[in-house]
Amino acid sequence: MTHCDGVRKDMWSGEGVITANEQIADATWKVSLDAPEFAALARPGQFVMLRLPDCADPILGRPFAVFDADSSSGRVEAVYAVVGKATTRMTRLSAGAKLELWGPLGNGWSVAERANPPKRLALVAGGVGSAPFYLLVKELMALPESKRPETTYVFGARSESRLNCVDDFRRLGVDVKVVTEDGSVGARGLVTDVLPEIFSKSLDPQDAQILACGPTPMLHAVAKWSAERGYECWTSLESPMACGMGICFSCVVDWKTDDGTWDYKRTCVDGPVFDAARLKWD
Ligand SMILES: Cc1cc2nc3c(=O)[nH]c(=O)nc-3n(C[C@H](O)[C@H](O)[C@H](O)COP(=O)(O)OP(=O)(O)OC[C@H]3O[C@@H](n4cnc5c(N)ncnc54)[C@H](O)[C@@H]3O)c2cc1C
Ligand code: FES
Repeated sequence: MTHCDGVRKDMWSGEGVITANEQIADATWKVSLDAPEFAALARPGQFVMLRLPDCADPILGRPFAVFDADSSSGRVEAVYAVVGKATTRMTRLSAGAKLELWGPLGNGWSVAERANPPKRLALVAGGVGSAPFYLLVKELMALPESKRPETTYVFGARSESRLNCVDDFRRLGVDVKVVTEDGSVGARGLVTDVLPEIFSKSLDPQDAQILACGPTPMLHAVAKWSAERGYECWTSLESPMACGMGICFSCVVDWKTDDGTWDYKRTCVDGPVFDAARLKWD
């Protein structure tokens, strides 16, 4: 239950006590932990490694975006899709049980602290890609209106049963647009279908920015849409990871250097947020 003393002061590892663990949509859960030291360190877009204590299978931790981190209450939250061993086992944990956690890790988003913040900002989420945006929206909505980019949160899912956390975002007061592939709620279609409503044709591309997190085909489509218009686009990747700390190279992605050649970047330490124009999508 310590800071990683002597290694990194911006990181903590220890055990968090679960205060709630509930299903919030089809195959989607939210876990809340009491972990005050961690909550005090997390910034928007960073991630946490969660591991089941006393569990040999899986033995490794799993990365999850920090959904919320409240330094006053010590609450840390993650939203998770149930896809395999760790996430299935996590659904069986009740309040009072513990999870090991370490982090916060990764670069996170940078919007509020930029010298020239965008005037028009779209945050585009698909499925559990909602998770890294909640802290960011909290941070943006706390800015004085004069300094806050005009922001729309776009959430896309296959159907209504997959909708997660949309009301949490609405409660923060941000403009929200929902789009589903089957039209069961919100607009029918894909997230890229609603982006033209957000960015007016007269907008200077320099004033536009898109941040996206979700399934790779969605990220690719959003990156392409942005590039065609000369808009800046940053994507948060969910590459499978083993160590989460830059040691194993299991999370590398192809990354374009300034001279146009290709290099590798590790998603865990160089990302998970990358300039979409620098990534190889095909
Ligand atoms: C920076 C980062 C942030 C993430 N944030 C979230 C989040 O907020 N919520 C969330 O639900 N998930 C998130 N993920 C993905 C999450 O880490 C995996 O879903 C999780 O590790 C699965 O663990 P498991 O043991 O249940 O599944 P496993 O048993 O390990 O795998 C089950 C199946 O899912 C596939 N799989 C596992 N991990 C991934 C992955 N990262 N991408 C694609 N396929 C995968 C496996 O190949 C296998 O087919 C994030 C990943 C990264 C790198
Ligand atoms: S997960 Fe090990 S280097 Fe990124």
